[in-house]
Amino acid sequence: MGTRPLLNRRLAGMGTTIFAEMSALATATGSINLGQGFPDTDGPAEIAQAAADAVLAGRGNQYPPGPGIPELRSAIAEHQQRFRGLAYDPDTEVLVTAGATEAIAAALLALLEPGDEVIALEPFYDSYAACIAMAGAVRVPLTLRAPDFRPDLERLRALVTPRTRLLLLNSPHNPTGLVLSADELAAIAALAVEHDLLVVTDEVYEHLVFSGAHHPIAALPGMRERTVSISSAGKTFSFTGWKVGWVTGSAPLVAAVRTAKQYLTYVSAGPFQYAVADALRLPDDYFDGFRADLLRKRDLLADGLSAAGFRVFRPEGTYFITTDITPLGEKDGIEFCRALPERCGVVAIPNVVFYDDTEAGRSLVRFTFCKQDEVLEEAVSRLGRL
Ligand SMILES: Cc1ncc(COP(=O)(O)O)c(C=O)c1O
Repeated sequence: MGTRPLLNRRLAGMGTTIFAEMSALATATGSINLGQGFPDTDGPAEIAQAAADAVLAGRGNQYPPGPGIPELRSAIAEHQQRFRGLAYDPDTEVLVTAGATEAIAAALLALLEPGDEVIALEPFYDSYAACIAMAGAVRVPLTLRAPDFRPDLERLRALVTPRTRLLLLNSPHNPTGLVLSADELAAIAALAVEHDLLVVTDEVYEHLVFSGAHHPIAALPGMRERTVSISSAGKTFSFTGWKVGWVTGSAPLVAAVRTAKQYLTYVSAGPFQYAVADALRLPDDYFDGFRADLLRKRDLLADGLSAAGFRVFRPEGTYFITTDITPLGEKDGIEFCRALPERCGVVAIPNVVFYDDTEAGRSLVRFTFCKQDEVLEEAVSRLGRL
C-alpha cells in the first residue's frame, strides 16, 4: 500500500467524532448519556403513525423525487411563511435533504471553491469543519467567549478578506445556547451585503428559543438572494433517526445546492417525508408545548449543575447547557469528560473539540437536557457526588 496515508489529507486528524467516543463510553460504563443530543422519548405518536401508514400504503418506498416529495416541499414553504414570514416557491426554492447534515455538506460543496475562506462561529458543530475541509476551503473562526458568548462584530469585520466567500451561521447555537439578536443579525447582514458574501445559516433549533425570538437572517434587506437557510425535523419533532432536513433559498442558490446534493444521497427517507409534511402542519400547541417542556428541563438541569458546583451558562436556545468546570478545581474538559463516567456515571462532551482556539474552550463542558425528567434528576443527583 506504500506510505501514502489512506485517508484524504483534507480529512486528516478528523478521526472519530467525539460523540461516537463518548456514546461508546456511556454504553460501556452504563452511564447516563447527556453527551449526544438525541431525545430519549420519541416525537408525536400521530406523526410516527403517519410514517408507518406511508410505508404500508406504499408511499415513498421507492425513490422519491430528487428535490423531495411535493407534499413536503409545500409544507416546508408553509412553515417558513407561518413562523418566519418568508415566502418560498416549493418547486424551485425548497430542497429536502438527508437531515441538516447533508444540507450543510451540499451547500458548502456547491458554493465553495478551493482556497475560499469561510467565517464560522466557533465553537462549531463538528460537521462544519469537515465539510469546509472537503470543499478545499479554509475555515476562519469567530470565537464566541464565555460568559455570554456574544459575537464580537468588530472582530468579524476584521476577519473579512478578499478571499472570504461565505459566512456560516448557527442560531440558536450549539453548543453555547447563544441566540443571535435582531441587532447582531442586522450587523452581520449589512457586512454580507457590503462584501457580497454568501450566508449559510443552520437553524435546526429554530423552535427552541427560550428568551427573545428566533430571527431568520434571510428576512433582512439584501439577504434573500444570498442566504441558504437550513433546518431539520430531527430536533423539532424528536425524530433524529429519520434524517429529514431541508434547504430554503432563492432558486439559483437552491439549484446549486441541489446539484451537489443529488450526488451525495440523491434521495432519502421516502415514507418519512410524508410524516414530516404532517408534522410541519401541527397546530401551534405542539410547538409551544415542545418549547415549554424543554424550558422546564433546561432549568431542572441548570439548577442541578449549579448546585453540583459547575459554573452554568444558562442557554437562550437549543437543548444544550455549556458549563465551566473551573469552580470544581478542574481545568481540562477532555480529561474531566473521560473520567466522569467512572466518577459518577454521567457522560458529557468537552466543548474544546469544537474550537480551533483551544484555550477558549479548555474548561468548558456541554450537557444536553433533551431527556426524561427522571433521567435528568438522577444525573443531577449523581453529579452532586462531585
Ligand atoms: C447545529 C446542528 N446542526 C445540524 C445538526 C444535525 O442535524 P440532522 O440530524 O438533521 O442532520 C445538529 C445535530 O446535533 C446540530 O446540533
